[in-house]
Amino acid sequence: MKKKIFLFSVLLLFFMFFLFKSFYGKHYLREVASKNNFLIGASVSSSPFLKDEQYKITLKNEFNLLTIEDDMKFARIHPQRNTYNFLIPDLIVEFAEENEMKVRGHTLVWHATLPDWIKDKKYTKEELSSILKSHIQTVVSHYKGKVYTWDVVNEAYNDDGTLRDNIWLRTIGPEYIELAFQWAHEADPNALLFYNDYSNEGLNQKSDAIFEMLKSLKKRGVSIDGVGFQMHSSITYEKNYEVIKENIKRYKDIGLEVHITEMDVKIQHSNKSQKERLQQQAEMYSKTLKLCLSSSNCSSLVTWGVTDKYSWIPNFTGEEDSPLLFDEKYRAKPSYEAIYKLFQEN
Ligand code: XIL
Repeated sequence: MKKKIFLFSVLLLFFMFFLFKSFYGKHYLREVASKNNFLIGASVSSSPFLKDEQYKITLKNEFNLLTIEDDMKFARIHPQRNTYNFLIPDLIVEFAEENEMKVRGHTLVWHATLPDWIKDKKYTKEELSSILKSHIQTVVSHYKGKVYTWDVVNEAYNDDGTLRDNIWLRTIGPEYIELAFQWAHEADPNALLFYNDYSNEGLNQKSDAIFEMLKSLKKRGVSIDGVGFQMHSSITYEKNYEVIKENIKRYKDIGLEVHITEMDVKIQHSNKSQKERLQQQAEMYSKTLKLCLSSSNCSSLVTWGVTDKYSWIPNFTGEEDSPLLFDEKYRAKPSYEAIYKLFQEN
């Protein structure tokens, strides 16, 4: 009998030891990222945030930064001329604070997601300037001290390096970009202010034009801290990482930071097996992170979504896909493992 009790106690001890080890031995992505002083983020969409508990658990466990995917865009946050809608973004910002996550504000000036009261009316230059100033200053002041970085201006350039035709350019003129940065800085002098775009990570007409514009703003003393590379990517389109590194370096030379702000990697339209696709996707995430970790002016990477379950890509492309770090069932994918490993080994 005594022997049985003894054996049982030994087994129980072993069991408790392994339970303890598996519980406390697991590090989340944000922990290994933090050890590298790195901000690893995900964009947050309000509908899963409000209804899917697993979504929130994964978000807070794995990421130390979040971007609000849609709810700070003009039409959402300022739907009528005299109405601001802070309810949902406030909830998400509060969640970030409770979980010691930083918040990236997205976005103050963009050609898309404009409310009808802006799109459908003809304003004079003075009127629209005053509307934009008051929009920026109301939103930035509301989140003063809570949003650490703003995407002040989003996607203002065409691929050929000319300014995109939008209501701000047409009515206010090219100076709307500089004014937006000034107004944001006045409202929260401590927030970092970024220009954000896609296809600007390589070296091409668009990225050159953006670089020259930011260089000139910086030279003239405008408050600008960095540039966001969205990096919406696809495994069918290999990137030239050497060139991206060069681009990051030229920003370093003029004192600007680079953040990867909206990364996802599409796997559709490939003739490889699913396993190979996911492996290729993992390599792209890992090469991008590596690039960032090896550049002293790049300290943040945000994925555009938490899980494949709610990614914007299937809607956008009309095709199924799985572009993120977690699959539909919140299981970590090869991409997650790859960047986790990089953080651990760095
Ligand atoms: C996308 C969102 O993910 C979608 O939910 C929305 O319907 C459209 O906008 N570049 C940006 C982001 O700067 O704001 C976009 O987000 C994706 C492309």
